[in-house]
Amino acid sequence: MEKSEMIDHARQVLRDNDRGSYTVPTHGLYPFQWNWDSALSALGFSHHDEARAWTEIATLLAHQWEDGMVPHIIFHQPDDGYFPGPEVWGTGRAVPTTGITQPPVAGFAVRRIHDRARDTALAAEQARALLPGIHAWHQWFYRCRDPQGTGLVALLHPWESGRDNSVDWDDAFSRVPTEGVGAFTRRDTTHANPAHRPTDEQYKRYIWLVQKFRSLGWDNSRLHDASPFQVVDPGFNAILIRSCHDVADLAQRLGMNAIAAESRAMADKGVAALETLWQEEQGQYLCFDRARGTLVDSPSIGGILPVFAPIPQDRVAALVRRIETLAESCEYLVPSHDPSTPEFDGLRYWRGPVWLIVNYMIADGLQRCGHGRMVDRILDDCLRLIETSGFAEYHDPITAEPCGGAHFTWTAAMVIEILNTHKVDA
Ligand code: DGY
Repeated sequence: MEKSEMIDHARQVLRDNDRGSYTVPTHGLYPFQWNWDSALSALGFSHHDEARAWTEIATLLAHQWEDGMVPHIIFHQPDDGYFPGPEVWGTGRAVPTTGITQPPVAGFAVRRIHDRARDTALAAEQARALLPGIHAWHQWFYRCRDPQGTGLVALLHPWESGRDNSVDWDDAFSRVPTEGVGAFTRRDTTHANPAHRPTDEQYKRYIWLVQKFRSLGWDNSRLHDASPFQVVDPGFNAILIRSCHDVADLAQRLGMNAIAAESRAMADKGVAALETLWQEEQGQYLCFDRARGTLVDSPSIGGILPVFAPIPQDRVAALVRRIETLAESCEYLVPSHDPSTPEFDGLRYWRGPVWLIVNYMIADGLQRCGHGRMVDRILDDCLRLIETSGFAEYHDPITAEPCGGAHFTWTAAMVIEILNTHKVDA
């Protein structure tokens, strides 16, 4: 497919999923605004409509909670095609939202869109308006999800990670009860192949946690200690650190000195703390089960994603070697779980498939450290997947089978981003 044809197709996906001031990830399966989908989709818009890109992030931030949290879903309009809807969350917001959050990529996205903007006046105005809210969200993380001040935040629900059913959570999640969860009807499996989605057992535990947090009035000063699920994900922390780092740089250039200094301090502390998750034997980072006090022996992409943060060069070089090893057991990089392990499932969501958004973040980190050959390989694989199987939510890393939802916003946004910013053979 010609480069221009691919971009046209990707822009059509964005148009079809555009609801005016926000985009839905895909029609049917995800009919509302999702937090990290939105921030990453804004990167796609920014190449042809900067104002629309800024609106996407502004809409997300407009629904920030008073305590600083930016919720993972904003239910702009009723839609009974999704479960669990606003009535299950019961957060009591005027425009309903969920009560948990998602990977904070907005800080990174704002800096990137700002730094390459053609309309520099608009970019400075928008960045100035958005940075205080994004900074408050970052502070919220360290206050509410790292009450002991370790430098690393914990996830309290697998949905917060964005990697909903990763093998990383299996052990900790098995300790989340299912008693008291009444009958419910899943909707996701009517839109997508059930073999590509989390299991019913996992859904019961997802809902148990929602009910638990709801019973605590969604009071974020209480949720961390009350949650039986507290997992420190290196990938999630890396995104937070990178966003703090980018906010620091941008705020400094915009003369927002207090935000710059506080953001820099959070990023530096986070980078130092990430070292505690490095595992020489596996050659990558691992999750830490905070409730149990042990590392989680699960070689997932969450332990490779730290390249997105300003970690030391030797760690990045080791992670390149890790990716080279993964390449021996799959056709398309980077699988979300190691294909040589028994837990790998090439079709099931975050237990094996390739996700373009994660590839993009990994490639961005590798580029910073001069690993151009691996960057080319990863981004070429992204485009080969799209050419072979279309703009799916995720793809099997061995067969390229398209999985999950189709006509997917952030997949399209990443294609636009890759084709516009990277020299590729498309
Ligand atoms: C879902 O509904 O599958 C989402 O990933 C939760 O955010």
